[in-house]
Amino acid sequence: MVDLNILESELSARIAAAADGAALEALRVEALGKTGSISGLLKTLGAMSPDERREQGPLINGLRDRIQAAITVRKASLDAAALDQKLSAERLDLTLPAPPRRKGSVHPTMQVMDEMIAIFADMGFSVAEGPDIEDDFHNFTALNFPPKHPARDMHDTFFFQPDETGERKLLRTHTSPVQVRVMQQTNEAPPASWISAAQKPPIRVIVPGRTYRIDSDATHTPMFHQMEGLVIDKAIHMGHLKWTLETFIARFFEVEGVSSRFRPHHFPFTEPSAEMDIGCDRSGGELKIGQGADWLEILGCGMVHPNVLTACGIDPDEYQGFAFGMGVDRLAMLKYGIPDLRDMFASDTRWLSHYGFSAFAAPNQASGLS
Ligand code: PHE
Repeated sequence: MVDLNILESELSARIAAAADGAALEALRVEALGKTGSISGLLKTLGAMSPDERREQGPLINGLRDRIQAAITVRKASLDAAALDQKLSAERLDLTLPAPPRRKGSVHPTMQVMDEMIAIFADMGFSVAEGPDIEDDFHNFTALNFPPKHPARDMHDTFFFQPDETGERKLLRTHTSPVQVRVMQQTNEAPPASWISAAQKPPIRVIVPGRTYRIDSDATHTPMFHQMEGLVIDKAIHMGHLKWTLETFIARFFEVEGVSSRFRPHHFPFTEPSAEMDIGCDRSGGELKIGQGADWLEILGCGMVHPNVLTACGIDPDEYQGFAFGMGVDRLAMLKYGIPDLRDMFASDTRWLSHYGFSAFAAPNQASGLS
């Protein structure tokens, strides 16, 4: 007959001395496993007389419970010690600089749009937006394009397949259709969801957005960006147009002042129409904008044609105004010395990190635009 006291003190001593989890587990199997010493004792209970069993049963079961408990306690302390050791060995130096993260940047076109918006917002303009997919009325008819105008041609404009009614939608060729939508908006309620600047005349809006033409070479891409401007009130004349644009250009290029000239031009939706050139200096191979002997064509503009006002429900005898439209990508190239328009849309991340802008410094006239 095994001496339970000796077995217990021997097992207890070995449990206390177990060096790690594996040694403890081996010990558990040796004592409590299927063929373990205590399991073996439990099995002998079956063969005992009832009196013997009444005496031995509680002794052997008590031994099993105490050994089981001792193993659990030892395991917890071995686990804690292992964790302590791991924590003191694996040290994290929180003072080390973090590994550099790749930062995205704002595309120059978007930066320039924000700069333009900041300048015009300061002059009291609000921003209007409209859909990229337009209809003939807003892109052409309301803007006084004659029925056979070349822009209505498949060669210049991306048309969609005709729908069930035979209407051909198109990708807007300029931001001018939003003029129409804003002017109509002032005479129609309720405001449509895509107009972010609904107001009655006086109207003073700019319209930044994507535009599309079938054109692709070093200075033209099928998709590009324009910013339109529209001012309608009771006594607006070309002097206002000239001041607005000269002020804008000087602030945009961050120069003291600009000289300008207005060359007669033709747009169906303005009369008179002009192209605005600004003074510049190209001597020494570097382009300096503002003053100088050379001229740089910068934008199209004019006084809103009475037919356009009428088409939009505004009485041309009461109201008149001016409009202008300019290429945002081109302005970005001029301001930031970007040589090739096509690179603007190539999605080359090296180009973007070179010409891009911090996302955290929004252009602001007070703290600086660029
Ligand atoms: N919509 C014209 C274009 O895309 C630009 C423009 C706008 C000209 C407003 C005059 C007035 O060429």
